[in-house]
Amino acid sequence: TGYITYDPGFVNTGAASSAITYIDGDAGILRYRGYPIEQLAEKSTFIEVSYLLIYGELPTEAQLADFTGRIQRHTLLHEDLKAFFSGFPRDAHPMPVLSSAVSALSTFYQDSLNPFDEPNVELSTIRLLAKVPTLAAYAYKKSVGQPLLYPDNSLGLVENFLRMTFGFPAEPYEVDPAVAKALDLLFILHADHEQNCSTSTVRLVGSSEANLFASISAGINALFGPLHGGANAAVLDMLEGIRTDGGDVASFVNRVKNKEKGVKLMGFGHRVYKNYDPRAKIIKNTADEILGKISGGDQLLDIAKALEETALSDEYFIERKLYPNVDFYTGLIYRALGFPTKFYTVLFALGRLPGWIAHWREMINDPQTKIGRPRQIYTGHAARDYRPLSER
Ligand code: CMC
Repeated sequence: TGYITYDPGFVNTGAASSAITYIDGDAGILRYRGYPIEQLAEKSTFIEVSYLLIYGELPTEAQLADFTGRIQRHTLLHEDLKAFFSGFPRDAHPMPVLSSAVSALSTFYQDSLNPFDEPNVELSTIRLLAKVPTLAAYAYKKSVGQPLLYPDNSLGLVENFLRMTFGFPAEPYEVDPAVAKALDLLFILHADHEQNCSTSTVRLVGSSEANLFASISAGINALFGPLHGGANAAVLDMLEGIRTDGGDVASFVNRVKNKEKGVKLMGFGHRVYKNYDPRAKIIKNTADEILGKISGGDQLLDIAKALEETALSDEYFIERKLYPNVDFYTGLIYRALGFPTKFYTVLFALGRLPGWIAHWREMINDPQTKIGRPRQIYTGHAARDYRPLSER
């Protein structure tokens, strides 16, 4: 069947054509639908960026109001879906809780099963954008043993999520605008990143014509791994480990360079960026400000800065073009906002959701889409004859 290219990890394989996100990894450039990430970070909002990614253009005022209103109408979960949260162990990691709950949406919304039914794909899109923050907040409440809160649809998407996460039923909850703004910015920076592991997973699962909920659930599971979205939590564990060991950054860097098993500089390196990750640059600039405002400084931030400085001037990292990626500073900010480490990757999933949806919709509408079906180089036995049990 012809010539097969061997490309483990798809380092050189273009598996899709896409008009959503542009990255120049050597120059450190990232644009959503042509707009530089720096401008979107400074001037836009997460809901506006979600619209941009999914529909291709920034919304007009009327379009934004309509989009926001439709999302607000769908934030409630089916009461029966809430039962899921009592079924999981109390100390369950919130990522598999989230992916299971998103997968379960297909069972509640059976009108979503046909991926070519455009009105229902649109409805599934809105349902996801509206319900995933509620699901994420419930996963959090479950993990801390607190009662679930219904959404308050007079609030914006991020404010509503914060209230459902940190509020209590009988008490008013004042959303801190600095916290909401910080989270909104982080969501913008995570909203899309072309063919990363989770987005490629969403496209691959979707290429079999599985529905949007099933495909997004698969994407959440791909994001869970520490080399991908799980890196933001792994960075915090690493920084805390260094602090416990007395804060000796240089000796930790030496362990990384000696390739000690399981010791990597988490939050460093990227398949595409061979330059400073532009998202990390924006986060670094705001980390100080946000951390100063919210928590009055953080010792782990000092360790992170020392680690970055040491690595950036070290031959090992220079040679390999290893720079901080988006996950290097985000955990510190999430920590300052009050989230436990286990929850950081859920926040990444909330941010990446519109990107996954945009890619699934682009894939399903692309006449060139075929079922994703890689080939392999077979390395097993040549043909051999079966031997009965008594002769083995
Ligand atoms: N610490 C130490 N060495 C590293 C690191 C690191 N973080 N990243 C790459 N290297 C080394 C690697 O050992 C290899 O060295 P050598 O040539 O001597 O074998 C060289 O750099 C090239 O690395 P690679 O593993 O071939 O690169 P990749 O493109 O396959 O992997 C990566 C990219 C992001 C998985 C990897 O850099 C990594 O594991 N980083 C740490 C985890 C992390 O921060 N992930 C978040 C990525 S960004 C956002 C997201 O996707 O969530």
